[in-house]
Amino acid sequence: MLEKKMQKALNEQINAEIYSAYMYLSMSAWFESNALSGFANWMRVQYEEEMFHAMKFYNFVHDRGGQVLLKAIDGPPTEWKSVIDVFEATLQHERHVSALIHKLVDLSTELKDHATNQMLQWFVEEQVEEEANAEQILDELKLIGDAKSGLFMLNRELSQRTFTPPAGG
Ligand code: FEO
Repeated sequence: MLEKKMQKALNEQINAEIYSAYMYLSMSAWFESNALSGFANWMRVQYEEEMFHAMKFYNFVHDRGGQVLLKAIDGPPTEWKSVIDVFEATLQHERHVSALIHKLVDLSTELKDHATNQMLQWFVEEQVEEEANAEQILDELKLIGDAKSGLFMLNRELSQRTFTPPAGG
């Protein structure tokens, strides 16, 4: 049985993951309207990953006999100054999500909730990858600078990304 304090925190995380999905979908839409369909594809896959994260928490709360209580999702930004600006916001957001996951781990330890702690370890690892992915693209964008050909190549590369449910998810 899930303690009320943990249930509340996990419900907040469901909200944070759906917000992440919403934000990446907004970024995807922004790329579509800026003729960068490869970047748009990458962000759409990111949106799918975030919904997968949300549903992983959702299923876990139910599996533990808890109650899922959905709340309103904040509106995401809809405008960015540049491609690099989008990925800076992405990296910053993933760092914020990592901090949220680490707080959940701390709470599970405090409550001696071993099952939640175990489930969260998957997210601890996933966040390392999430931050690394954003950082890698950001580094490439910094290398490309103002070179249109570089942006064209990266756009083509990012069009190849597909969503596959992560292992162990
Ligand atoms: Fe669900 Fe990108 O963290």
